Amino acid sequence: MKGSWLSILAGVLCALTLAAIAAGYPYAGSLGSAQLEALGAVALQLLFGALALVALAASESWKQEQPRFADGGWPTLRSLAVIGPLAVMTQIGLGAGYRYQLISVIPHAVWAFAAAVLLLMMGTYVLTQSQASRTMKTVATVLLSLTCLQVVLGVGALLARVSDIQRAAWMPVVTGLHLGTGSLILACTLILSAFVLRCAEPAQQGQEMVSTGRHS
Ligand code: HEM
Repeated sequence: MKGSWLSILAGVLCALTLAAIAAGYPYAGSLGSAQLEALGAVALQLLFGALALVALAASESWKQEQPRFADGGWPTLRSLAVIGPLAVMTQIGLGAGYRYQLISVIPHAVWAFAAAVLLLMMGTYVLTQSQASRTMKTVATVLLSLTCLQVVLGVGALLARVSDIQRAAWMPVVTGLHLGTGSLILACTLILSAFVLRCAEPAQQGQEMVSTGRHS
């Protein structure tokens, strides 16, 4: 019961944080320092990711036993589960740097492809694990879809910044969607990584194991 209240509270806070991110807070010029504003934007994204993990930890799905599976490929899923969230955080930092005019768009646009490839690998590897739980596979499918969508939205957001058509009504919508989808990608990556680190065992040990989420 306590867990479900915590889950609901984390869900509500997640929704409020996501709304603030998609609305573009903090606005450029609002805090008087671009560095501070970029830091605030990244902090909001981190808060959203942390709340998503709290919601996961309090959820029924996380408390259930999860099948374990062998992690034998290269790169291993466990290594992708560590690198993936770091790659997304770097991408978010570079996006914030561009949004508050601290750096050019090039690092964000170039790193987008490295981050996207990592996330696509992670999602695909999970989908090819026959023993991975249905929840894991659902999160992996959502992550794959959002990553593809985000690259398209990113190009739209860039057009909004650099072209004359930025006054068109749909342009702020594209930018808001790009910011919000960035948060959802971070949350999905963190959640999938948590599942992978719990369920994927080094190849020689894992085949028939079941995880209870507790260390023995
Ligand atoms: C996996 C891929 C991507 C992710 C996760 C991502 C994420 C983000 C995030 C979170 C922000 C906002 C940062 C902040 O201020 O808090 C941002 C901003 C931005 N991104 Fe991306 N991005 C991705 C790909 C791209 C691509 C491919 C492009 C364009 C070539 C792009 C163009 C932009 C632009 C123009 C902004 C500034 C938006 C504005 O005007 O407010 N992004 N990105």
